Amino acid sequence: MIITGLRGVGKTVLLGEFRALAEEHAWIVVELEASKNDDAGFRRVILSQLKSALLRLSPRARWTDAMHRAASVLTSFNASVDPSGAVQLGWDIEPAAGYADHADLGLDLTDVLVALGGVARGKNVGVVLLIDEIQFLNTLQLEALIQAIHRLVQRKPPVTMIGAGLPQIAELVGDAKSYAERPF
Ligand SMILES: Nc1ncnc2c1ncn2[C@@H]1O[C@H](COP(=O)(O)OP(=O)(O)O)[C@@H](O)[C@H]1O
Ligand SMILES: [Mg+2]
Repeated sequence: MIITGLRGVGKTVLLGEFRALAEEHAWIVVELEASKNDDAGFRRVILSQLKSALLRLSPRARWTDAMHRAASVLTSFNASVDPSGAVQLGWDIEPAAGYADHADLGLDLTDVLVALGGVARGKNVGVVLLIDEIQFLNTLQLEALIQAIHRLVQRKPPVTMIGAGLPQIAELVGDAKSYAERPF
């Protein structure tokens, strides 16, 4: 879902309501406030949020195979912003070769969200990404996000996204991917 409206109509307040509802149902909430970031910065924000989502889904001592797999996919995703190793992630987990290492933000983001979705499905817990100020994403970042969400919609894991932004985002989303009208 994407909520659009002029400044001050209550989009951020509404996202907060969604957060409260999700928490009531013991869903994992991933909150991002989009900003004018380069793609490395965007990856870093996604990384730190998805890492903490993964750890909230399950403490490391009780990781299942799906959790290890999702952590490896995140390690791969991290490699493009942190080639020297797991500085940011702070864990010593081998990257998953062939996943989230495409040097393409859309494909990489798809891989991490699908892996996270696998964990969420296994634990029967919902995950919601709440993204505020979504109009600050650049075209590539927005396309990547739409591509990843589109793939998620097809696979039906219990992961969903609610974005909020200024009215022009409707057009930007439509331009970004012609199939965007379907998932949103
Ligand atoms: N349903 C509401 N009832 C009362 N005040 C509201 C409501 N929604 C928003 N507001 C107030 O309006 C202001 C702007 O809301 P905000 O969510 O920040 O708008 P936006 O994110 O769309 O720019 C805030 O001060 C908020 O407290
Ligand atoms: Mg706001």
